[in-house]
Amino acid sequence: MCGIVGVVGKPARDIILNGLTNLEYRGYDSAGIYLNDLNGNEYLTKAVGRISNLKEKLTPDEQGLVGIGHTRWATHGKPTVDNAHPHFDETKRFYLVHNGVIENYAELKEKYLQGVKFHSNTDTEVVVQLISKIAREKNLDGFSAFKEALKLVKGSYAFLLVDDTEPEHVFIAKNKSPMMLGLGDGFNIIASDAISVLDQTKTFVDLQDGDVGDITKDSYTIETVDGKKVERKPHVLDIDPNAASKGTYEFYMLKEIDEQPSVMRKISQTYFDENDDVKVDPKIIDSISKADRIYIYAAGTSYHAGLVGKTMLEHYTGIPTEVGLASEAGYHFPMMSKNPFFIFLTQSGETADSRVVLKEVNKRNIPSLTITNVEGSTLSREADYTMLLEAGPEIAVASTKAYTAQIAVQAVLAKALGEALNKAEAKDWNLKHDLAIAAEGMQQLVDSKESLKEIADKYLIKSRNAFYIGRGIDYAVALEGALKLKEVSYIQTEGFAAAELKHGTISLIEKDTPVIALINDPATADLTRGNIQEVVSRGANVVTIAGKDFAREGDNVVLPEINYYMSALLTVVPAQLLAYYASKDKGLDVDKPRNLAKSVTVE
Ligand code: M6R
Repeated sequence: MCGIVGVVGKPARDIILNGLTNLEYRGYDSAGIYLNDLNGNEYLTKAVGRISNLKEKLTPDEQGLVGIGHTRWATHGKPTVDNAHPHFDETKRFYLVHNGVIENYAELKEKYLQGVKFHSNTDTEVVVQLISKIAREKNLDGFSAFKEALKLVKGSYAFLLVDDTEPEHVFIAKNKSPMMLGLGDGFNIIASDAISVLDQTKTFVDLQDGDVGDITKDSYTIETVDGKKVERKPHVLDIDPNAASKGTYEFYMLKEIDEQPSVMRKISQTYFDENDDVKVDPKIIDSISKADRIYIYAAGTSYHAGLVGKTMLEHYTGIPTEVGLASEAGYHFPMMSKNPFFIFLTQSGETADSRVVLKEVNKRNIPSLTITNVEGSTLSREADYTMLLEAGPEIAVASTKAYTAQIAVQAVLAKALGEALNKAEAKDWNLKHDLAIAAEGMQQLVDSKESLKEIADKYLIKSRNAFYIGRGIDYAVALEGALKLKEVSYIQTEGFAAAELKHGTISLIEKDTPVIALINDPATADLTRGNIQEVVSRGANVVTIAGKDFAREGDNVVLPEINYYMSALLTVVPAQLLAYYASKDKGLDVDKPRNLAKSVTVE
């Protein structure tokens, strides 16, 4: 949500515009840039909509050796030019971009900024006006005024501030919103996400909550708001910049769906040793082995992956496992068993709702593991342990390969833990083989994607609503299939436990309502067939996606054979492809669905 890029010491305009373009996946509805040429000229340009609109507004002479840019995902105030960042104070001395939410902005405005003329409805403008007021009233330099203001501000933020009386500095502050510092030769860059500026540097400093910094072209100092110096060491990020490029694909979503077989292979290589033994940090296994209950917390797609993980963890380890929505648990903490262990599933590692739960977990000294795609992300740093998804950068807002990677890594964990607990089911489980089967099966499915396009065109693109139904693990996948379809195609879709439809929702089934039925659960396959008949009788267009062992003549997609506990890895692929084609064939922006952000850093 919101993207920020700042540059000091190098022609800044293109670096910022490219960086913001690389951050587009985070979701935004307006964009802006401030440039200072260090020769007395400064330029502020903002536009509603895409970065291309901003580029069109910029004239060739608007350049700078220092600059800050922003893509805004509206929280306070509509997406308008005035509400777009950077914001400035009434004397036009300070320019500020912000990712996050200022919780006490109304109070600050009321208490300190009476009589000040505002030009926007944003919480951010309150902060820049406050900095300016403090600087004037206390006769402070920009950095000191910034720190004084931060002492009053409550909320989440990644701030970049330029004071045009000392424009060769960018001042920064971070709390709960992601921000990295990239180090270059004679220049420095600040960005929400390293992948946005990988073409400029691979050396990064991870900033932490409470950090305030003064960045110039060849120096950086990080301190606390009280001026206590803190040391933040740089590290080199080993990411191939091409991994984040679209290559020949029209949309990232399809590229990422197609990458799933290789992600399965990567997970297998990472988590199995040369003797084919599963390989997980023994400290993690030791810590979870002591737990009498596992609590998985996550949001959206990651929550759906958690529902699949629960079935594997319970089956292979015997440890009761609960799965919850992080947004619900943050302020209504679940009742705890005696020895709980928390697992956070998060592609980005930055989801604010999950962070709230982790904070409480840490306060209660409960051990925790974050399973994430982003090394060094906030949830990774704040949990006791981390396991990486190894999925490579996921850019499309709709999560695909991170979902299947989350399932595979939970399988690895279930296997390692079950073996440590001496569970026969885990010892006998050839997970490495199953991961290979999953990779092969995924490949077959993505190779026959054209058949899914036909189904999407025939049954989905003209529909206003649709249903996914399934039982057991298929129910968890039904929830994910429905989320995928609705988020990218805007077809209202619900995921249902197949038998639940008749308890109320079947009243919505009418002629030609698409119902996508998932059939992999040995215990309930025949019953689900019965549920299919119930909707067929009411006129539904049913699309069946069935495992090989349960397939019947006329099924639309027959999935290669796989261990039931791993079946979600295959069942979800046709669901992802149906969503992709429904969106693309409706002419929508598949990778950037309206109103959505990739990394949801507000609660
Ligand atoms: O980064 P996270 O996995 O924590 O994000 C949680 C959700 O916002 C995310 O899974 C979202 O539901 C998907 N992008 C939807 O496809």
